[in-house]
Amino acid sequence: MIRNEEFSLTLQFDYSNTPNRMKRIAIFASGNGSNAENIIRYFRQFPSDGKVVLVVCNRAGAGVIDRAHRLGVESHVMTRDEINDPEMMLPLMDEFGVDVVVLAGFLLMVPGFLIERYHDRMVNVHPSLLPKYGGKGMYGRYVHEAVVAAGDKESGITIHLVSEQCDEGRIIFQASVPVLPTDTPADVESKIHDLERLHFPRVIHETFCMEK
Ligand code: GAR
Repeated sequence: MIRNEEFSLTLQFDYSNTPNRMKRIAIFASGNGSNAENIIRYFRQFPSDGKVVLVVCNRAGAGVIDRAHRLGVESHVMTRDEINDPEMMLPLMDEFGVDVVVLAGFLLMVPGFLIERYHDRMVNVHPSLLPKYGGKGMYGRYVHEAVVAAGDKESGITIHLVSEQCDEGRIIFQASVPVLPTDTPADVESKIHDLERLHFPRVIHETFCMEK
């Protein structure tokens, strides 16, 4: 007798066996999503190298959800508990065949099981020249306020691999920009966003999507 389970079908495509294939990118973001939008648009110029297939967001109503929707990228809003639950996160990553995870303004700690799964394939952008102005509580506008309050003459961005320690993974790329005595935190933020737009998508491309 043939048992039923011998015919059980899995509808999920096995993405892992195609050589030199396009990398499938998931972006995790919590807020406005300007980086997410830049990355989505950038990879449309290189369709055989990479594609953003999924946006994960922990805040309902965040701008990044609207941006993903307009650009036709699927987004999932998940609570902190759901993100920290391997039984929810790992099947989601599998369903979308995610190869590379990009943190772009994602303000939660990423759970260890995901960092392990995406060892050397998870990248973050931080809006300062790490190790300056990194660690818990240092994100977004708080960083730029601290830079201006300290009278620093420059700031910048750091693109780094993600490790269990907040903002401490291996640095892949840094770029700096002058801070003028008259600059407000909003001015610095705008300069930092320009740097991110210029470099972050390209660095993702060169680091993860060009292996032959
Ligand atoms: C970006 O400047 C990014 O560097 C920063 O949040 C901003 C998100 O902007 N990330 C952090 O501070 C992480 N520690 P966006 O939502 O417009 O992309």
